Amino acid sequence: MIVTPSGQSCGAAVTGIDLSKPLGDEQVAEIRAAWLEHHVLSFPGQDMSNDDLERFTLYFGDFGQDPFFAPIEGREHIAAIRRDADETSPLFAENWHSDWSFQEHPPAGTCLLGITIPPVGGDTLFANQHAALDAMPPEMRARYEGLTAIHSAMLAYAPDGAYGEKDAGRSMAIRPDETARETQLHPLVREHPETGRPGLFSCMGYIIGFEGMAQEDALPLLQELYVWQSRDEFVYRHKWEPDMLIMWDNRSVLHCATGGYEGHDRLLHRTTIAAA
Ligand code: SIN
Repeated sequence: MIVTPSGQSCGAAVTGIDLSKPLGDEQVAEIRAAWLEHHVLSFPGQDMSNDDLERFTLYFGDFGQDPFFAPIEGREHIAAIRRDADETSPLFAENWHSDWSFQEHPPAGTCLLGITIPPVGGDTLFANQHAALDAMPPEMRARYEGLTAIHSAMLAYAPDGAYGEKDAGRSMAIRPDETARETQLHPLVREHPETGRPGLFSCMGYIIGFEGMAQEDALPLLQELYVWQSRDEFVYRHKWEPDMLIMWDNRSVLHCATGGYEGHDRLLHRTTIAAA
């Protein structure tokens, strides 16, 4: 197995391994170590079935719960990230986030397998939140250290949210509902549960405020933080190929979809790795 760092703030390509075959304990341990070091791993040239994708996911934890998505037919734990060539609804996930950070136990990671990849555009961006915290000027860090963030899916998945009842013509099987209004608290600055490395967890969008702080004070803080978290120097731009699998660590990075592939289909299969 060869691990080649992207040269950007995070991310590495892994070659010399065939993920369509079961892996041994040593290979899984090597991948886990590389994942914890680089936060985003890509595996090019993997001809994987849905069974292979599920088997790979389960090496790293149980399946996480995916609310607000209907799974693909015949599978409980695979969602399609899909956009058709003629689709005009706003892009899915074109804002920074950490998957399902509004859950009580947010998922450790996400796997995404490229199936139909457009010839241009559709890159996925990742922002390293350990680097973002490390580089924060002390007076700025002092404003955020110790805050407890209020997370919720309401802005995206409530019936009146971005993917709610007004979201017409979307090919993805998104299922908004009232449970999106529930809230959950997590520290904003926290140690990674496996490596102990401090980082910023999640961002404005799924974070809707701070515990004990008026909204008029919280919103400018969240906006300032969002701009900082996604500065170019913390970002890895992932370029897709068909038959490429990627896995990322939601505890270490934010991610964001990009467009630029109008007139082309895009389809990826996604699984979620539960928290340990
Ligand atoms: C996602 O956030 O799961 C989708 C990312 C992408 O479509 O690039």
